[in-house]
Amino acid sequence: MKVVVVGQGYVGLTIAAFAANHHKVVGFELNSLVVTQLNKGISHIEGIASDEIKKAIDAGNYKATHDAAAIAGSDIVVIAVPTPLDANRKPDLSYIYSACKIIAENLTGPALIINESTSYPGTLRDYIKPAIEKYSKLKFDHQYAISPERVDPGREDFNQKNTPRLYAGLTPEATKKTRDFYSTFCDTLVEVSSPEVAEAAKLFENSFRQVNIALVNELAQISHALGIDVRETLDAAGTKPYGFMKFQPSAGVGGHCIPIDPSYLADVAEKAGVTATFIQRANEVNLEMPKYIASRVARDNGGSLKGKKVLVVGVAYKPNVADTRETPAELLIDALEELGAVVSWSDPVVGSWHGKNSAGLNGAEIAVVVTKHDVVSAEDILKSAPYVFDTTGKVKGAVQL
Ligand SMILES: NC(=O)c1ccc[n+]([C@@H]2O[C@H](COP(=O)([O-])OP(=O)(O)OC[C@H]3O[C@@H](n4cnc5c(N)ncnc54)[C@H](O)[C@@H]3O)[C@@H](O)[C@H]2O)c1
Repeated sequence: MKVVVVGQGYVGLTIAAFAANHHKVVGFELNSLVVTQLNKGISHIEGIASDEIKKAIDAGNYKATHDAAAIAGSDIVVIAVPTPLDANRKPDLSYIYSACKIIAENLTGPALIINESTSYPGTLRDYIKPAIEKYSKLKFDHQYAISPERVDPGREDFNQKNTPRLYAGLTPEATKKTRDFYSTFCDTLVEVSSPEVAEAAKLFENSFRQVNIALVNELAQISHALGIDVRETLDAAGTKPYGFMKFQPSAGVGGHCIPIDPSYLADVAEKAGVTATFIQRANEVNLEMPKYIASRVARDNGGSLKGKKVLVVGVAYKPNVADTRETPAELLIDALEELGAVVSWSDPVVGSWHGKNSAGLNGAEIAVVVTKHDVVSAEDILKSAPYVFDTTGKVKGAVQL
């Protein structure tokens, strides 16, 4: 089958790489730099090796393009474009809209259109299908389905093959075609009764994580006030063999999913007349963590950070990836600077960020660890400043969150 994957970022490239073992895949991407690199066999995301891309190109099973005409003749089109929040923290479906327009204008026959981008229940039925119909010059009988992506970039134990995949079509035919497509490279497919159930399940998975991370971050603050070790408390609670799942305190949440997706659920809930109180409060608690950390660091250092050299260690939002989207390091740097600190950052995995290069692990009076990558040793972090505050629990001997 000819499969076009629209968007070659974390999700789109991952799906393209797996699908290319079984189908002819075209990665349609607006960013021409990404297209050029991919066609040279250079992967830009964790989890997909450049060798895999090279192999698929050499076998004639993959090419990247920014030429929309390549969408013509597709059997399947997979949408994998960003779904961020706008300035008011409301769903921004503009990327999906522009993808639908391009798809509709370039398809030359009926196709199965699958959305993998995360969005609120009703997006496939009430937004994607009408948008594609609006821009289709020829009235093809397209099929529509959803299969929300669950990829966790950088993770080695779960991937496209062994992560169960939810799916549902708008029609039985769409559902069947979607199952046939994913069953070529996924072990476990879970059919649900409607696209809305699949869309809601995806949002709830990430809301569950967001709320529990906020809860544990609140416990970290309570524990500190009570003089109790939060991580020991969590280890102790974790010995219960049922009814408890351990989450770890941190500087907050980052990436394209946990800080964003729950707001899609809260927004659709509000429109339906329900207030998503847990999601709203969880957002606040996680977003307040950097300020809480900065104030603790200031308190430990004579009550003021004015003019002090502070090094933020690890600016990626999680270990061993270069992804800085929505990283809590950004808010932490702001909070430290607000208290008068002179802030630099060190992260060899990220390398360069906001036009600046990663600093070395030296020369600071204070270090605050946001993310600990495997390539950076805890010993080196501990030696990087006379006072080290650790939000990760991985730098023994440092002051702990
Ligand atoms: N990153 C994750 O871990 C993850 C996991 C599960 C689900 N998701 C969801 O998957 C979707 C994609 O996320 P991502 O992390 O891959 O984003 P990304 O930013 O890494 O990649 C998206 C790509 O789409 C391209 N693009 C935007 N509009 C386009 C268009 N009209 N045509 C062609 N290309 C276009 C962008 O240039 C970018 O390269 C989002 O809805 C996200 O919430 C992400």
